[in-house]
Parts: sequence; C-alpha cells; structure tokens
Amino acid sequence: MSTIPLDLRTDEVLLPAPSLPERVSLMQSLRLRQSSRSLSPDPLQSGVPAEGCHRHDAPTLRLMLVSAEDLRRHTGLQDFVALAPLELVCVTDFTRMRDVSDEERTFLAGVDVGCIAQNASLCCADLGLVTAVQAMVDRRALAPLLRPRRTQRITLAQTVGRPEHGEHNQQQA
Ligand SMILES: Cc1cc2nc3c(=O)[nH]c(=O)nc-3n(C[C@H](O)[C@H](O)[C@H](O)COP(=O)(O)O)c2cc1C
Repeated sequence: MSTIPLDLRTDEVLLPAPSLPERVSLMQSLRLRQSSRSLSPDPLQSGVPAEGCHRHDAPTLRLMLVSAEDLRRHTGLQDFVALAPLELVCVTDFTRMRDVSDEERTFLAGVDVGCIAQNASLCCADLGLVTAVQAMVDRRALAPLLRPRRTQRITLAQTVGRPEHGEHNQQQA
C-alpha cells in the first residue's frame, strides 16, 4: 500500500483514486469474507497514518478532520475496537430520504447501512484485511464528540485491521 499525504495546513487527507482492477473476483471475496475480532493494531498504511476522526468526503476523495481525539474506544463495547487501526462509523442523514414515512425511513436506513457494511467487508476480504460490524456503539459518548446535525444518527460502526497472525482466512491455505 502506498503512503497517503496529510496536508498539515488544512488537516485534510487527500485519498488516492480507488484502484479498481479490470477483473475482480467477487466469488473469492465472498469466500474469504468473515467477521473477526482478532485484529492486529498495526497501521493499515505504511508512512504517516491519519489519526483522529475524519469525515469521508467521497466526491472529493478527502478525509476532513472532525476531531483530533482518539475516539475508537467509543465505537463498540468490546475491548478490541480501541486498538484497531481503523474504525468506520456510518452516520445516516434522515433528511436525504424524502417521500417516506418515519417508520420506513428508519427501516431503509438500516438496510442501506447493511449494504454499505457488506461492501466494506468484501473490500476487506479482497485486501487481506479483517473486519467486524458493531451495532453496539456507545452512541451517548460518541455523538457529542462527532457533533452530528439534529437530523443525523450514528447507525453502525465497523472495525477494520490486519488479521492477527494466523487468525484469519484459514480458507486461503
Ligand atoms: C447488524 C449487525 C450488527 C452487529 N453488531 C455487532 C456488535 O455489536 N459486536 C460484534 O462483535 N459483532 C457484531 N456483528 C457481527 C456479527 O456478530 C457477525 O456478523 C456474525 O458473527 C456472523 O459472522 P460472519 O460475518 O463471519 O458471517 C454485527 C453484525 C450485524 C450484521
């Protein structure tokens, strides 16, 4: 993996464009995909990792600094989340879903975030990383630190890391 530049003036990280090979074996990723709570604390990237909490701005491929504080321990109730090199936190903006009832809105937000989490899981499998979805997020602690808008909700977190030596992808052998 290559080094990702951190702009010290703006605290923004400019991400490289996603590398999408011509042929991706979805079946291979599906076979390798599994939840794991045995993650190495090693960083995902060589070079300078982005620390603190960032908002992913997909259109501009940027990570925008939200907080310089280490918030990982609030992203799940199990100890391993505090040491993992990356925690993805999904925040749903309910104003983005129009023309649906309140009940449908919550239901569809859950479905949507489930699809996103599964995509992330398959990417992890493809990259040789391991992951675990966290519904048990400490929202009371995390929400004031992330400062979401009134219409936004923390929906799910997902722990990502390198597999602890010998702990994952037995099927690969
Ligand atoms: C909606 C959802 C919420 C989950 N929440 C947690 C959680 O809070 N903590 C945890 O350790 N695993 C959590 N998991 C992970 C499941 O325990 C895991 O998916 C299950 O062990 C099945 O393993 P697999 O993903 O390898 O098929 C969650 C999974 C889903 C789909």
